[in-house]
Amino acid sequence: MTPGITILAIESSCDDTSAAVVSDGYVLSNLIANQAVHKAYGGVVPELASRAHQANIVPVVDQALAAAGKRAGEVSAVAFTRGPGLLGSLLVGTSFAKGFALARNLPLIEVNHLQAHVMSHFVMEHGRQNRIPGFPFLCLLVSGGHTQLIIMRDHLSMELIGNTIDDAAGEAFDKCAKVMGLPYPGGPVIDRLASEGNPDAFRFARPRIQGLDFSFSGLKTSFLYFLRDRVAEDPEFINKNLNDLAASLQRTIIEILIGKLVKASKETGVTEIGIAGGVSANAGLRQAASKEAQKRAWNLFLPELRYTTDNAAMIGITAYYKYLRSEFTDQSVVPVARIETEKS
Ligand code: KG4
Ligand code: ZN
Repeated sequence: MTPGITILAIESSCDDTSAAVVSDGYVLSNLIANQAVHKAYGGVVPELASRAHQANIVPVVDQALAAAGKRAGEVSAVAFTRGPGLLGSLLVGTSFAKGFALARNLPLIEVNHLQAHVMSHFVMEHGRQNRIPGFPFLCLLVSGGHTQLIIMRDHLSMELIGNTIDDAAGEAFDKCAKVMGLPYPGGPVIDRLASEGNPDAFRFARPRIQGLDFSFSGLKTSFLYFLRDRVAEDPEFINKNLNDLAASLQRTIIEILIGKLVKASKETGVTEIGIAGGVSANAGLRQAASKEAQKRAWNLFLPELRYTTDNAAMIGITAYYKYLRSEFTDQSVVPVARIETEKS
């Protein structure tokens, strides 16, 4: 039997410090340390995120190795998120990975965070029926920083066919939640409130954007002005209508996302379809995607909730395929805050 390939993967692009061990494409462990420190500020504070990563990284890596039942000496390569993300946060993961690899003379593998979100659909787990997409695979990537339509023709190719021209879907959730006085991150809070609200209660502006691109800034503004006018009439308006506001806002965001996903599938003929990124945890979005899948005979992939938000397992699985192609990085590598994927 050929010796296994065991990857130690690190993700530190934003406010979660995560380490995972992926062996021959199977996730053995995936640990995430969340940073509660940002809650008080209504958003991620880059300097605090970086410091929290520094405090978390060693224990998280230790625990990931222990949970996987692996010793550091059994690791074949070290993978890390090179970007996009917050530079100070990325620096912590990158420096740690470089140090670990240097000390043990291991190959380093850099991973694009966005590609990893899409690759989360290829994560396999022991003891689970692993359903993996076929190619070409069309994925709607919806996170706090990105809203993209991506086609993958093999494990490592990424063709961008749609992108947001302003805010990301997650940002729309978070910013509108903030306007309603809800805590950060607002996405999961709106999701919860929406489950007991009427999605037809209020109607907000839908963008008219050509092609497969998205826009969310108009919705944010229309939501803000709507609330301002209503609160002027009744200061208690938000509290009295919280569930309906959340449900109506969520319905609008989902309609925009699903509308473009359907269009992309029709235009490309691709029916292996997935959603990925933090917003793909949204119950309403998952339901809406499932409904379309039934109607249109899509082979739909909804990620397990633990692989929707930032995690190192998705970094590890991407790195595994890079390892198979000997795509290594040298010690001179530096993190990058922005990685532009060219639209085809
Ligand atoms: O992928 P992610 O963890 O980090 C980035 O790479 O941005 O995504 C975070 C985003 C936040 O905007 C958060 O509000 C949103 O994902 N999010 C959700 C839900 N869970 C997380 N949005 C809507 N519904 C959810 N259940
Ligand atoms: Zn992410």
